Amino acid sequence: MQVTGTVLTTRRVDAFHALTVVAPGIAERTRPGHFVTVAVGGPSTSMLTRRALFVHDVKPDYGGTVELVFTVRGPGTRWLADRRARDPLDLVGPLGRPFPVPRDPVACVLVGAEYGSAVLFPLADTLLARGCRVDFVLGGAGAERVFGAMRARRVAQTTTLTTEDGSLGLRGRVADALPSVIADTRADAVYACGPMDTLREVTAVAMKFDIPVQVVVEEAMACGVGICMTCVLPVIGEDGTTRMVRACVEGPVFRGERVRFEDVGTIPFDAIGAPGGGARHAG
Ligand SMILES: Cc1cc2nc3c(=O)[nH]c(=O)nc-3n(C[C@H](O)[C@H](O)[C@H](O)COP(=O)(O)OP(=O)(O)OC[C@H]3O[C@@H](n4cnc5c(N)ncnc54)[C@H](O)[C@@H]3O)c2cc1C
Ligand code: FES
Repeated sequence: MQVTGTVLTTRRVDAFHALTVVAPGIAERTRPGHFVTVAVGGPSTSMLTRRALFVHDVKPDYGGTVELVFTVRGPGTRWLADRRARDPLDLVGPLGRPFPVPRDPVACVLVGAEYGSAVLFPLADTLLARGCRVDFVLGGAGAERVFGAMRARRVAQTTTLTTEDGSLGLRGRVADALPSVIADTRADAVYACGPMDTLREVTAVAMKFDIPVQVVVEEAMACGVGICMTCVLPVIGEDGTTRMVRACVEGPVFRGERVRFEDVGTIPFDAIGAPGGGARHAG
């Protein structure tokens, strides 16, 4: 859906900005893992591509609100950070495929780095409502860049924090803390959102423990709706064959062990349709 929403509130959360936007229609359709794309720059802007942002929280207030949490990276997110209450905001969403959730009440470790942690909180609520055990591992470069530590402590059985500079929690990266959390909690599944190298490291740990891992990839996107192919990445299918798939419509949630992290940004020679050969469809 395309909705001209209205900014309800703006706030700073440590190094991040949070915007709550009245967006009826989008709010009630949003599931954990969905994202929206936001038009930035106003009517006369040269910034033509929308910016993709995960949905952090959804509330029924004012007909439905979505909360977006972001870090300022360039001109689009800087423009967003300057929005004030009552400003209009053009949103398209919800987009992508949400997280698959287990049928049984299993133990899940939710691993988030930087603003990637934001998308894990609605997932935690859904898992808890199904009777799952939830443990968090949250990290960032420094204390200011660890999102949601207090809320995680309120909802999860345990919360482990990591920072690369050692200013909060354990010194290191989320994947460094993950093995002991998986062992202590006897985790059945891992969910992760963060930068691509974090997802690769988390997937490697989950694979060592032989437990499934769902990762939310953040591949650069232009259209967000499956048309432009900007967001393709190599993913191994059920049949063992690699395909270039669109993160915006076939993802952004994928099984971690299926994503060819080392080859992201390339078309591997053995992918279907790769230049100069590639795998052939049987039959
Ligand atoms: C599915 C998805 C969900 C995302 N969720 C969030 C979120 O919740 N919070 C948040 O802070 N950021 C999120 N991002 C990243 C965010 O979209 C970029 O930081 C933002 O588009 C940068 O725009 P800019 O104009 O500020 O910066 P610029 O770097 O000037 O962006 C220029 C162009 O590059 C693209 N781009 C730049 N960096 C990225 C990036 N890391 N990922 C994807 N596209 C990029 C932008 O779409 C834009 O078209 C998400 C990205 C994706 C794909
Ligand atoms: S961003 Fe255009 S196809 Fe995915």
